Amino acid sequence: MEFLAETSGARRVRTECAIVGIYEGGALTDETAALDRALGGRLTRLLRHGDFAGRAGETLLIPDLGPGPAARVLLTGLGGAKTWGRRAYRRAITAASQAVLKSGAKDALFLLAADEVPDVDAYYRARYVAECLSHTRYRVPDLKSSRKPATPRLTRARVAATDRSGLAAVKRGLAHGAAVAAGSAVTRDLANLPANVCTPTYLATVAKRLAREHRSLRTQVLGEPQLKRLGMGAFLSVTRGSDEPARLIVVEYRGGKAGERPVALVGKGVTFDTGGISLKDPGAMDEMKFDMTGAASVLGTLKALAVMGAAINVVGIIPACENMPSGRATKPGDVVKSMAGITIEVLNTDAEGRLILCDALTYSRRFKPSVVIDIATLTGACVIALGHHLSAVMSNDDELAAGLVAAGKRAADPCWHMPIGEEYQEQLRSNFADLANVGGREGGAITAASFLWKFVDGLHWAHLDIAGTAWLSGANKGSTGRPVPLLVDYLLSRT
Ligand code: BES
Ligand code: ZN
Ligand code: MN
Repeated sequence: MEFLAETSGARRVRTECAIVGIYEGGALTDETAALDRALGGRLTRLLRHGDFAGRAGETLLIPDLGPGPAARVLLTGLGGAKTWGRRAYRRAITAASQAVLKSGAKDALFLLAADEVPDVDAYYRARYVAECLSHTRYRVPDLKSSRKPATPRLTRARVAATDRSGLAAVKRGLAHGAAVAAGSAVTRDLANLPANVCTPTYLATVAKRLAREHRSLRTQVLGEPQLKRLGMGAFLSVTRGSDEPARLIVVEYRGGKAGERPVALVGKGVTFDTGGISLKDPGAMDEMKFDMTGAASVLGTLKALAVMGAAINVVGIIPACENMPSGRATKPGDVVKSMAGITIEVLNTDAEGRLILCDALTYSRRFKPSVVIDIATLTGACVIALGHHLSAVMSNDDELAAGLVAAGKRAADPCWHMPIGEEYQEQLRSNFADLANVGGREGGAITAASFLWKFVDGLHWAHLDIAGTAWLSGANKGSTGRPVPLLVDYLLSRT
């Protein structure tokens, strides 16, 4: 998909499909009014006849307008003035995207984007168009043998800016939006693939392929003998029951100054989580193929940075393995030693994410990172706390947490700051080791974060629990591509 910015006002529109906004109650935006004049008042007549109410998410395609500025006009409901804002705007773009992708148009002009949206500037208005249109266009990599739905004909989307200075912002917004979309698609493809395809080895192969595609990326893959030599006893205890070999994948992106300390992104890469000997209930266990979304979001974020050429240094660190039961699997009560030297009593083999992350966090120290962010589908408790709309952020640095919360708002990929503290760490006391790997049901997302906190002394660290936001269940089951938009936005804010 090609995204173009342009200045031409609605009067000089030439497109196969003009996408215009109508507020509930029939009020026209300035751009819609201009187009209406060019169409001899046909839109106002149509609204007067009551054919379109302008409700949020409502669309009406008027095909075959005959000779004139636009072969088609797509009316898009913006909703009422009271609800008008970022959410309604994104909803309108998504609805318009669905409709235009179903139409035969090869080219579309978004005349929605120049409208004022409270707290959203021209850059984000354009970026959302590229992101939402690409997101809507995405198809899961399926293995269906029946015929696939026709691929949409749309190949070019244009966004009109209101003036010259706006044009630069729209251009940048579209380029960044396309990059975020490319990154999200990498994440979604990996997460959606079944666990018999997307193994730790497969993740490593994709990481290497990314480095071949982008000269700014470098990938290095460590195998189990190397992990043993590094003393990663916690990580290795999780993979023990699996026949698939574990991998530690390291991807470096160099876009910043040489010698500038990188941001480290550490992503949980459990390609399937059965729970191990503490076996999970069978209900929805298939969704544990998504338990590598943290890893996939690290690769997706690096892809986005490489596409946009962001001026920053980032290192992605991905511990990848399966969590399986077997005769060799780690058992409840086993004591293991982490790379940091901290011993851990594995009371529940289903609390495996923190075991692989603690060693990866320790490994991140060798890159002398300015900031370390780990991303993980870590706890069911996080889903209970925040549901499916917000990720959780815990941190030993309030400024860093605030930066992530702000980035999430801007990127429409929000997260919520949750606490950690000594009092929670007391729940992790063990009679037999330095630390237990579970702390009971109460505050489960927080005790998981508090476990990791033990390993990041002296680092500026944040933890994103994406258990509730990484994928959708039910009829629309599939990866959301989150939190790639949030991470990219945060990293851009540091350039
Ligand atoms: N991958 C799961 C967390 C999860 C569960 C994410 C459901 C999304 C939906 C994680 O490894 C896990 O099993 N966590 C346990 C921890 C518990 C044993 C302390 C959980 O949340 O039940
Ligand atoms: Zn897990
Ligand atoms: Mn688990």
